[in-house]
Amino acid sequence: MRTAVAIVGAGPAGLLLARLLHGAGIDCVVLEHRTRAHVEQRQRAGILEQGTADALRACGAGARMDAEGLVHHGIELRFDRRRHRIGFPELTGGRSVTVYAQTEVVKDLIALQLAEGPPLLFEARALAVEKPESDHPVVRFTHAGREQTLDCDYVVGCDGFHGITRAAVPDEIRRTYERTYPYSWLGVLADVPPSCDELIYARGEDGFALHSMRSPTVSRLYLQVPNGTDPADWSDERIWDALERRFATDDGDWSLARGPIASKSVTPMRSHVTEPMRYGRVFLAGDAAHIVPPTGAKGLNLAVSDVRILARAFAHHHRTGSGELLDSYSDLCLRRVWQATRFSYDMTTMLHSQPGENAFDTRVRLARLHRLAASAPAAAELAANYTGLPL
Ligand code: FAD
Ligand code: DHB
Repeated sequence: MRTAVAIVGAGPAGLLLARLLHGAGIDCVVLEHRTRAHVEQRQRAGILEQGTADALRACGAGARMDAEGLVHHGIELRFDRRRHRIGFPELTGGRSVTVYAQTEVVKDLIALQLAEGPPLLFEARALAVEKPESDHPVVRFTHAGREQTLDCDYVVGCDGFHGITRAAVPDEIRRTYERTYPYSWLGVLADVPPSCDELIYARGEDGFALHSMRSPTVSRLYLQVPNGTDPADWSDERIWDALERRFATDDGDWSLARGPIASKSVTPMRSHVTEPMRYGRVFLAGDAAHIVPPTGAKGLNLAVSDVRILARAFAHHHRTGSGELLDSYSDLCLRRVWQATRFSYDMTTMLHSQPGENAFDTRVRLARLHRLAASAPAAAELAANYTGLPL
């Protein structure tokens, strides 16, 4: 098999890239290890930056998001049992975010791709990228029970953190920057209307909690838990009790509605950046190149901005023959990646309780929250990062 651009991975990065390249008249093929059902059901992110929502609309994948997504104009920070709203449009020149689950983004992009192309192969597992520095790299993969090759001009690794394309960058060139955090998130999906109109990021006495949502009838909630937590140790009652404690407030008579919990999972928290994001004819995009802890809702949005930048570079090359934008891809993305890494780190460390944290550190973390509540410029900085920095 042969194509111009071989895309490994059909998460948000690979699927949107395929759509953008197809629109620019560039041939590509997407190889996806898992089944369609698996990819469409993986519970992950839920918040789309303004620029992500605009990009989905611009490529024809925005209809259901516009019909069913919830546009949010702010978030609440809850700490010291008080509530503080940060409004976005007034602090950002009119920007907002859309609550629309990653599962739905992926379903919309897959449906479009299967209807209109380019080719998308499920259960096609890439094994290795060969000759990455040559003009004709090759992806070796298994599909339909046999090993095959995809010859191409370029490979884009959109195969997530556990993918294989990152290994195409030789060890002596690849640099990795990493931090793990001493806590994880227990995420639950509950069949109960959200107890809030906007997301609540809460710093309770015994840790962080986040109230998000998937629809007017489904709540998505997260709890800080120790690393190594087994979700089976958390009964529904234990989860609701912990959430109730962490969201407790003296501002008005707010209460948390309980309902049946449909799923529970634990996500570890990690920051990871691989540099460079290009080697020879191989480009890395999304989680294949970087991971952020989820507190700032940046992971999916960064994946989308990487492939928007890359698609623009491929289109420029296709139109003009110039490789200058492809050459600047890694540097341009990494500047944004480090901004998102910094923001996610700040949000994470400000809102979580460090195991064994001393009283000084607790006070400093609270001072950061009080500053956000008291200062419009401080809140504007959060709002600009949360709704998305310009491309
Ligand atoms: P992925 O979505 O990981 O897609 C990669 C694709 O490549 C997958 O479909 C995979 O099956 C495929 N693949 C892997 N290896 C191969 C191979 N060898 N051959 C072919 N295909 C391959 N972000 C937030 O903002 N908020 C959250 O709450 C949040 N929760 C998360 C929970 C979990 C458990 C995880 C893992 C991530 C979470 N994220 C969250 C991050 C966000 O979901 C990711 O940043 C986003 O999915 C990145 O998209 P991607 O397309 O780069 O990678
Ligand atoms: C969701 C996840 C996040 O990491 C976040 O910061 C906000 C919302 C969510 O899954 O809804």
